[in-house]
Amino acid sequence: MKKMLLFAGIIALALCFSCKTSHNRDAVLLDSGWKFRTGDDPAWASASYSDAKWDTICPNKVWEEQGYKGYDGFAWYRYHAVIPSSMRLKAFIKDSIQILLGKIDDCDQVFLNGELIGENGRTVYTKREPPVDFFKEQGRWFIDRRYVLASNDPRIHWDKENLLAIRSFDQGGAGGMFGSPFEISMTDLQDHLKFDYTSSAFTFTGDSTITKKFTIQNLSSTEEFKGKLTIEAILSDNGINVYTENTGLDITPGLKFEKPVTFKKSMAAPAILKITFTESTSGKKVTSEMEIPYILTPKIPAKPRINGAKVFGVRPWSPFQYKVAASGSAPLVYSASDLPQGLVIDQFTGLITGSLKKKGDYLVKLKVTNKLGSDSRDFKIVVGDVFSLTPPLGWNSWNCWGLTVSDQKIRQSADAMKSSGLIDHGWSYINIDDGWEDTHDRDGNILPNAKFPNMKGLCNYVHSLGLKIGIYSSPGPKTCGGYEGSYTFEAKDAQNYASWGIDYLKYDWCSYWNIAPKATLDQMKNPYKEMKHAIRKANRDIHYSLCQYGMGDVWSWGAEVDANSWRTTGDIEDTWESLSTIGFSQGKCSPWSAPGRWNDPDMLVVGWVGWGPALHYTRLTSSEQYTHITLWSLLAAPLLIGCDLNQLDAFTLNLLTNDEVLAINQDPLGKQAVQVKKTSEYEIWARDLEDGSKAVGLFNKTDKPLNVPVDLKDLKVNGKPVMRDLWSQTDLGRVAVHFEMKTQPHGARLVKLAK
Ligand code: GLA
Repeated sequence: MKKMLLFAGIIALALCFSCKTSHNRDAVLLDSGWKFRTGDDPAWASASYSDAKWDTICPNKVWEEQGYKGYDGFAWYRYHAVIPSSMRLKAFIKDSIQILLGKIDDCDQVFLNGELIGENGRTVYTKREPPVDFFKEQGRWFIDRRYVLASNDPRIHWDKENLLAIRSFDQGGAGGMFGSPFEISMTDLQDHLKFDYTSSAFTFTGDSTITKKFTIQNLSSTEEFKGKLTIEAILSDNGINVYTENTGLDITPGLKFEKPVTFKKSMAAPAILKITFTESTSGKKVTSEMEIPYILTPKIPAKPRINGAKVFGVRPWSPFQYKVAASGSAPLVYSASDLPQGLVIDQFTGLITGSLKKKGDYLVKLKVTNKLGSDSRDFKIVVGDVFSLTPPLGWNSWNCWGLTVSDQKIRQSADAMKSSGLIDHGWSYINIDDGWEDTHDRDGNILPNAKFPNMKGLCNYVHSLGLKIGIYSSPGPKTCGGYEGSYTFEAKDAQNYASWGIDYLKYDWCSYWNIAPKATLDQMKNPYKEMKHAIRKANRDIHYSLCQYGMGDVWSWGAEVDANSWRTTGDIEDTWESLSTIGFSQGKCSPWSAPGRWNDPDMLVVGWVGWGPALHYTRLTSSEQYTHITLWSLLAAPLLIGCDLNQLDAFTLNLLTNDEVLAINQDPLGKQAVQVKKTSEYEIWARDLEDGSKAVGLFNKTDKPLNVPVDLKDLKVNGKPVMRDLWSQTDLGRVAVHFEMKTQPHGARLVKLAK
């Protein structure tokens, strides 16, 4: 497992918990009594094997915390449980039984009485031989392990002792079972009726009309449910119900359908959509809640406004391309006074191009005009050894298209970056992730695959829009997606990238494990140094983005290999667990962040994501997405949008175009926020800004609204600073000593405190 789990706080799990009845129903609790040993032997799946001499272990804590420090690889857990048929007799729904095993770091095969019933979080429904390579799948440590079997499955021995054996494999880091719950129980109504909110975004019409479609699915293959469906919209701040709808629901086994709902609510007011199904014969209820997005960023003014970074770095002689980011009604006319010799600005597009030979700082005055007025702003060009002086803002294909990325999808994304207006707020990179590579030819040139017929043509196209383009490879022979990597072809690859016009390289460790299976720190650095030299020779500013999931505390040596950014974690997912685990564990790398050297907690999971080809609307609530952008801005993280730009809904666009928030991310001082306060309920992070002020983020980790208290002394702020709310872009007056702000569940507030 990737490092982050250590920070996941595996939180509240200090003790081997004692048994309780969960979900108010009968269950065989598996909280204690587990046997454990490291190693691997298929015989350990068998009920007849004796585990009497094995160690005992708690299931709710990873093994590294229970005396097996530093152990990676295979280990087995065994449990002997009688499953009483009374449980089945008493159950409301009798057709399925579930085995809940918390979470498992990283991969697992689960055997019941010697037969495989589950693998890496997926039930094995019919008897089959266990596959041998389950442990090679990318770590599944964040997935709840829930294996569901039909009650009449012959692998279950009712009223007798059953042997549950878990073969687990830890790819590195913590290891084994953790979390909760651990039980065997009958499935109930809530396990069969699934509400899902990811088939559509909320749409907003006018100032207050909201439409949403959600799906209801009956997961049971045998049971039909009849009853009443109640849909309510409830304001979070005062509990006022602004919408109620009651309708009958008769849902046959396996049926899935989409239900639209339209209601009125003020855009900025946080609210909840609450769906309740009441089953008619038993009166049992299943309730599901989803936050209705609230829009905070004010409308973009029609008058011209210059946005984006205040500083731009370039190396001498490297091709210069900077697009002045400016909003306002079209047409805009751009100009720049005191542009150093060697650069020109296109007055219609705001694109500054050319090249500069001499090192030094050049102060330029940018001006943008339309028929309503003009805006001007100082802009510093720094010609030196380091570039990417503010974190890159852009888009990457992975979180939406995965390996189905193509030339056409890249062009469409670049078009959308421009037509959506994101480009006017500083968003500038269009990055191709894994899935573009074919093989190296006889001369060692990397050939794109059939999905990318003309890489140079594609780069030219993206540049012609005023955008930059990125690419992806691995120092190993193969990428994580199994495509051709750069191993032994580094120099040639870098030359080709530069000749195509590539501006950004994500370099992903992946199969380098095959070259250096137990890599020492030096071996971790070596492949990245190799590519560093290759890029240096290419005479082009290619943002060098390391992706090796934080191994060897990469933040402490990324700069040494010339990296402009480095991933600090494993892959992000669009869940609160993944987002909060990654985001709130970034304090350790704060000291290493600096202009041109950024910690990268992975890409954004807002909008339509899915890792290709099928997309779903992010599972994060709007509050969680405010936390995402707030925290990533405070962390001075690269912001790489991971969604389909052609399906930007109003909320997502609003979230990504708040210039005061983006200005925190792009602050020229380049200092990453530090964690100022952490309790089980909230966290406060603060970041020093170039103008002497401080950006402060307040984060509510609970699932209820919370007043987050802030003491100025914790922020090392004296006197009575002026406070501004950056999401709503409103002044809040002076504060002294202490203030509190209401913060939505899993949500954030972002303020700036100035003298
Ligand atoms: C790894 C990286 C991801 C993505 C994929 C591509 O998992 O961490 O960000 O680049 O590889 O295969």
